Amino acid sequence: MTSKEIRSAFIEFFKQKQHQFVPSAPIVNKDDPTLMFTNAGMNQFKDFFLGNKPAPYSRAANSQKCLRVSGKHNDLEEVGLDTYHHTMFEMLGNWSFGDYFKQEAIAWAWELLTEVYKLPQDRLYASVFGGDEQDKLPVDQEAYDYWKGIIDEDRILLGSKADNFWEMGDTGPCGPCSEIHIDLRPQDEIDKTLGRKLVNQDHPLVVEIWNLVFMQFNRQASGDLHSLSAKHIDTGMGFERLAMAIQNKQSNYDTDVFSPLIELVSQKADVRYGDSRETDIAIRVIVDHIRAIAFTISDGQLPSNNKAGYVIRRILRRAVRYGYTFLEL
Ligand code: GLY
Repeated sequence: MTSKEIRSAFIEFFKQKQHQFVPSAPIVNKDDPTLMFTNAGMNQFKDFFLGNKPAPYSRAANSQKCLRVSGKHNDLEEVGLDTYHHTMFEMLGNWSFGDYFKQEAIAWAWELLTEVYKLPQDRLYASVFGGDEQDKLPVDQEAYDYWKGIIDEDRILLGSKADNFWEMGDTGPCGPCSEIHIDLRPQDEIDKTLGRKLVNQDHPLVVEIWNLVFMQFNRQASGDLHSLSAKHIDTGMGFERLAMAIQNKQSNYDTDVFSPLIELVSQKADVRYGDSRETDIAIRVIVDHIRAIAFTISDGQLPSNNKAGYVIRRILRRAVRYGYTFLEL
């Protein structure tokens, strides 16, 4: 599948399950003082989760442009050095506003990954919230049991609050989550080390692809958790990582999302991608950042010397610095 086909298959799958397609919100967030940029697909639905506004539909699906370069979710310094983080990325998501909950979210995620995208079942792992003393929350046994009905128990892992409790920011809607990870290593490496040992260990080929969040709480500035008046589903799948898995690549940058840009920058710099670690990183930094800057500007935020504009200027500068230092551009 091409990346375009992957994106439309996602939307189609959820439309067939009565989800309303909702266009991506702008990447620049002007309405929410707790956020500079859209950092997750759920941002535009925050008021529905909190019960501040009634949702006009009970189920939604989309592909959201996200930027994770500031605040609670900030991947900037990793970008380019590794092969699977981005400043801007697309998040494929499906949502339930007080409608279906854990069972359907888990079953449909599995159906889409294994029956539509045909990802190999024996390469997939699920993690489940293992509880947290400070927040007085138990293990998410319910999610564990749903997974147990689908996959062997040795493919289900219990995770900490850091990995398995998703929060939009320091305050706001949040809840335990169940992540789906994929092991893309060659078989001989898998024979030596089991994939479950590498989940959440920053291995470039054992990566999280989808996060299913079970929205149940509103985090207060005091740190307390208040229960929401209804339970919701908020999922986020990394489109570029999914493309890597489906297109059987070892890097997001080797998919058709990025390869035309890689080719262009390599030509401009007269450097072959793959020739050296340093120039490869610089090429990845530039193609990632140029995409982020182009989309952010087109969504209304120019580089400037304060606030959101300064963040964009810093991304631009980082690209320039890598191009100048390593590619003689
Ligand atoms: N809101 C789900 C995620 O960003 O992973």
